[in-house]
Amino acid sequence: MQASAIAHPNVALIKYWGKRDTEQNLPATGSLSLTLAGLATRTRVSFDPALRADTVSVNGAEDAKAAVGVARCLDRLRAIAGSRDFARVDSENDFPTGAGLASSASGYAALVTAAAAALNIAGHDAERANIARQGSGSAPRSLYDGIVLLENTDDGIACRSVSAPAAWPLSVLVAVTSRAPKSVGSTEGMERSRLTSPCYPGWLETHPADLQAALESVACRDFEALAKVSEHSCLKMHALAMSAQPALVYWNAATMAAMQVVRDLRAAGTPVFFTIDAGPQLKAVCLPEAAPVVKAALSECPGVLELVECSLGEGARVSEP
Ligand code: PMV
Repeated sequence: MQASAIAHPNVALIKYWGKRDTEQNLPATGSLSLTLAGLATRTRVSFDPALRADTVSVNGAEDAKAAVGVARCLDRLRAIAGSRDFARVDSENDFPTGAGLASSASGYAALVTAAAAALNIAGHDAERANIARQGSGSAPRSLYDGIVLLENTDDGIACRSVSAPAAWPLSVLVAVTSRAPKSVGSTEGMERSRLTSPCYPGWLETHPADLQAALESVACRDFEALAKVSEHSCLKMHALAMSAQPALVYWNAATMAAMQVVRDLRAAGTPVFFTIDAGPQLKAVCLPEAAPVVKAALSECPGVLELVECSLGEGARVSEP
């Protein structure tokens, strides 16, 4: 009744920002992401008949806030397995938690993978994706390899890899510009944007074409086309956040400086583009041969505290304890 799993965070190129059902945590739109090898969450789940409740520790400290979402996912898995046992969940991230690096995505992907293995119900792929999204809307994408598509279905979501890591290798340089947890989480941020940003209807209207363009550029490995539509989706998402009331500005001065570095490199012909999630870290996506140039330029950028180099990684999987 015990298993461990490893999962990587993912970064969205075509963003999810806004829910169609808040209660069920269902996204309003699809999304497209990269699963990142180089950053990892390791989670151990131990079901124990002696426990009176689920307990969750993240990086060695009890986390009562995380326990609510974790219990929601575990309840669904227990129902499938016909189990009533509570679990102890121990999760460790080797990167900053809650700071726009998708620790909740890798966390929930590792959780459902380890818990499903511990309960001996591995193989329920579609269910696992729909259970993981109850914890975090972007978590199902971390269950899959390489470039990942999440689509809405009538009653939930479906998720799959559209390009394996080796089919079109890409490098991602994560420029960490702050290690502080973000002040407004993504759930609150996207609700505020949906309810108050005048840009939200335009976001819903234009999103399907962005997703389609990105999928086509992946299918024919057209980096320039992927760069264009990905930066557009990122800036449009942040425009929604900035035009919400009260406004949400996730960037700091170093985020802006790093964005300028990437824009200048691309204008000079380097195959690189940026994306930024709900936090101040900038992710520079490039062809692997451009990674040394991009790394050198970003390492000189004022305010960049650390650079983490990632390649495309595997989806969540069961690991040694
Ligand atoms: O899954 P959540 O609730 O952490 O929201 C993710 C939101 C973004 O990272 C900003 C965009 C995305 O598609 O991952």
